[in-house]
Amino acid sequence: MGETITRGELVGLFVKISLISVASYFSMRWMLNQIDPTRKQKKSAKSKAQQQLKKLGILNPSTLSEYEIVIASHLVIPSEIQISWEDIAGLEDVIQELKETVILPIQRKDLFTSSQLTRAPKGILLHGPPGCGKTLIAKATAREAGTRFINLDVSMLTDKWYGESQKLAGAVFSLAIKLQPCIIFIDEIDSFLRARSSHDHEATAMMKAQFMALWDGLTSDPDCTVIIMGATNRPQDLDKAILRRMPATFHIGLPKLNQRVAIFSLIMEGEPTASDVDIQKLARMTDGFSGSDIRELCRNASVYRVRDYMRTGTGSRTIDGDGEEFHDALRPITMEDLTLSLEKMKKSRAHCGPPSLVNIPLD
Ligand SMILES: Nc1ncnc2c1ncn2[C@@H]1O[C@H](COP(=O)(O)OP(=O)(O)O)[C@@H](O)[C@H]1O
Ligand SMILES: [Mg+2]
Repeated sequence: MGETITRGELVGLFVKISLISVASYFSMRWMLNQIDPTRKQKKSAKSKAQQQLKKLGILNPSTLSEYEIVIASHLVIPSEIQISWEDIAGLEDVIQELKETVILPIQRKDLFTSSQLTRAPKGILLHGPPGCGKTLIAKATAREAGTRFINLDVSMLTDKWYGESQKLAGAVFSLAIKLQPCIIFIDEIDSFLRARSSHDHEATAMMKAQFMALWDGLTSDPDCTVIIMGATNRPQDLDKAILRRMPATFHIGLPKLNQRVAIFSLIMEGEPTASDVDIQKLARMTDGFSGSDIRELCRNASVYRVRDYMRTGTGSRTIDGDGEEFHDALRPITMEDLTLSLEKMKKSRAHCGPPSLVNIPLD
C-alpha cells in the first residue's frame, strides 16, 4: 500500500536536508582551514603587520596585498630600535661615512637629487668577521636615518614553495616602495644570494634572478629611496652580480687595540668596577677578540661576583683598591674577575680552534 507524504513532512525533510548541507559546508570549510599549514602564521602576521603599520600612522592595511602584509609583519619602527650610535664603540670612521653617504642624502634629498653622483647608494654591504658590529650598525643606521626598516628574514622567502617565494620577493620591493624612505636589511645575505652554481635548484636560480631584476627597478628610478643593506661574514661567497649592486661597501674588521679600549670602556660604563680594573691592559691582552667576545668576557666576569655572593652570602671576598669592603651588596667587578674570565675564554678557544678570523678583504 503506497504511503502518501504529507506536505508538512515534505517541508520538514527539505529543512533537514538544508540544515545538513549548511552544517557540512561550514565544517568542510573549517576542516580545510585547519589543514592549511600557513593559516596560523598568516593570521599572526596580519595582526603584527597591522600593529606596526598603525604605529607608523600611515597606510591603510587594506591597500596592501596578502603578501605585502606578511612582509609588513617584519617592519621595524625607527623609534622602537634600541641601538643608537652611542651603543657602538670604536667604529667612528664607518659611522661618519655612513652619515655622509647614506643618511644625509636621505634626510636632505633636496640637496642631493640634482646630481647622480651624490645620491644615496641603492645597495650597501657591511662585511667582516662575526661579532664586530655589523648588525648594530644596520640597526643604528635605520634609527638615525629615521627610515622605515624591513628586517628581511630570508628563510621566509626560501621556505615557501616556489610560487609563494616569488610573490613574497615581489612584495618586499613593492611594500618598501610604498613605505619609502625604507631600508631593507638582509643579514647573512650570502646565505641567500651566494654565487650561482649549476647545483642551484631551478627555483632558487629564478628567485635570485627575480630579486636582482626588482633591485634594478629601484636603481633605475632616481626618486626612489629604497636601500638594500646586506651584512655578511663571507663576502667572497656572494654573487658578483650582487656585489656590483652594492657599490657602498664597509669593512668592519676585528677591533684594533684602541677600538678594544673603546669597546671595553663602553661595556663597563655604568657597571660597578673596582679601581684596579685596567682597561688598557685588558685591551692589550685581547688581540683577536671581536666586540661580542669582549662583551662575553665582561659578562662572565660580572657573573663571578654574583656567584661569590650566592656562595658566601656576602659580597666581601675582595677588598677594592680603596680598602673598602662590600658586605651587603654585590662587590664590584675586579681585575681578577676579568683576567680569570679571559683565561677561561682563551682556554676554551684553544679547544675549539681559533675564532673565526675570516677577514678577507673585498676586492
Ligand atoms: N663595536 C662594538 N661596540 C659595542 N659592542 C659591540 C661592538 N661589536 C660587537 N659588539 C657586541 O657584540 C654583539 C654582536 O654584534 P653584532 O653587531 O651582532 O655583530 P655582527 O653582526 O658583526 O656579527 C653586539 O650586540 C654587542 O654587544
Ligand atoms: Mg650580525
